[in-house]
Amino acid sequence: MRKPAVLFVCLGNICRSPLAEAAFRTEAAALGLNAQADSAGVGGWHAGEAPDRRAQAVARHHGVDISAYRARQVTEEDFYRFSHVIALDHENLAALQRLRPEDSTAEISLLLDHVKGREGEAVADPWYGAQSGFEVTWSDVTAGAKGLVKELVETS
Ligand code: 4NP
Repeated sequence: MRKPAVLFVCLGNICRSPLAEAAFRTEAAALGLNAQADSAGVGGWHAGEAPDRRAQAVARHHGVDISAYRARQVTEEDFYRFSHVIALDHENLAALQRLRPEDSTAEISLLLDHVKGREGEAVADPWYGAQSGFEVTWSDVTAGAKGLVKELVETS
């Protein structure tokens, strides 16, 4: 298998997908998995921005600095550059399936498909809620990242 390259995709790329990328990087380092990781948004409204302050805070609380991450919109090229394109919710998943070029080989899935017993579940959008919602997001993306890294270690 080629070196895994994983792209996490949410709506704005300032809350959930940067946290998923950070959790994935942490888990990959812990298990010694050599993989590339990035994140992007279905929408481009926040392109160039740092992650939401609440996302930065929850990551910092768990020992990860995501302040240098910058939002960007997903592109067609991403479906060739990445071996795995991972949606955070069903809306993101549907958008990715529409955007995906027919000849691309990227595997598209929901992040929580990689967690036993949570297949088909979404990571809820914490944007409109309180800081506490971001702890739920961190917990969800960490579960997804752990499952995904374990699968990639087993298949690479
Ligand atoms: P994300 O959260 O998709 O997890 O980054 C959101 C960020 C921004 C908006 C919605 C969701 N927004 O409407 O601008």
